Amino acid sequence: MADMSGFKVAKDFHVSEPVQTSGEFYVKGANNLDWGMKRHLSHIFNPKSGHTEMFAFDHGYFMGPTSGLERLDLIIPKIAPYVDSLMATRGAFRSTIDPAYGKGLVLRASAGSSMLQDDLSKEVLAVDIKDAVRLGADAIAIQSFIGADGQLQSIDNVSRGINLGYEYGIPVVGVVAVGKKMERTDRFFKLATRIMAELGANIVKSYDCENFDEVVAGCPVPIVVAGGKKLRESEALELVDRVMSQGAAGVDMGRNIFQSLHPSEMAEAVGKIVHEGFSAKEAIEFYEDAIHPAK
Ligand code: 5RP
Repeated sequence: MADMSGFKVAKDFHVSEPVQTSGEFYVKGANNLDWGMKRHLSHIFNPKSGHTEMFAFDHGYFMGPTSGLERLDLIIPKIAPYVDSLMATRGAFRSTIDPAYGKGLVLRASAGSSMLQDDLSKEVLAVDIKDAVRLGADAIAIQSFIGADGQLQSIDNVSRGINLGYEYGIPVVGVVAVGKKMERTDRFFKLATRIMAELGANIVKSYDCENFDEVVAGCPVPIVVAGGKKLRESEALELVDRVMSQGAAGVDMGRNIFQSLHPSEMAEAVGKIVHEGFSAKEAIEFYEDAIHPAK
């Protein structure tokens, strides 16, 4: 209890000034969420730009030690300072990430297949929500396989995750999966992103496609865009510019950052587009200057 000596009676209530309540929340579709959910989202989406550069390095959950991610302990600390949030498995977080890392944590929560299989669409919800709470996760990411054999199971995973997310105050990222046999058309992405949002996902992870602006318009929550297979740095930065200028709320990029020869500089260049409105050309110049500093 506070020491009462010198206690002053409260009298300065500024009665002529209307009481301020917090205004509209800046993350798309999140205004009616609970305060704690909004707080988690504010760890992922930068409150100044409203956007996020999420860095995905959860590939090992079905691919094993992918090129570039052979040693999480060596690569992740080079990139983590330049991004807003990390997307990974609980094994990677607990073994590799400093608990003092103060930015967003997005926990990959579905699993069940490996690259030894042809059909990767069959997953389960692999993380107990209480462990997500123990980890301090700001969101859990659950994959959906719309149009694939595993669709029903994946929708069950996403729906159960969302029910638990609301119960425990943790947002859900609905991850739209693409597979060898799956369409990559705007028709598919409009369908899949909208299903995720209607099920209650708070963020949707999807891909660049034709008419991406229409995919964004039809999805009432923020879309973050995966990078996909490794491109030249200039092409990857063009992809970021293209989707951001069509309304993406950010990127969730993996290989195009961790497989770059200069991952820190690449992460920083992506952030210039995501947060500072750099064009692709400006970001490419920034990247080139960063990797070849003037002598
Ligand atoms: C797979 C994922 C991965 O995290 C994501 O696709 C990785 O990012 P990138 O494609 O940019 O390497 O969610 O479902």
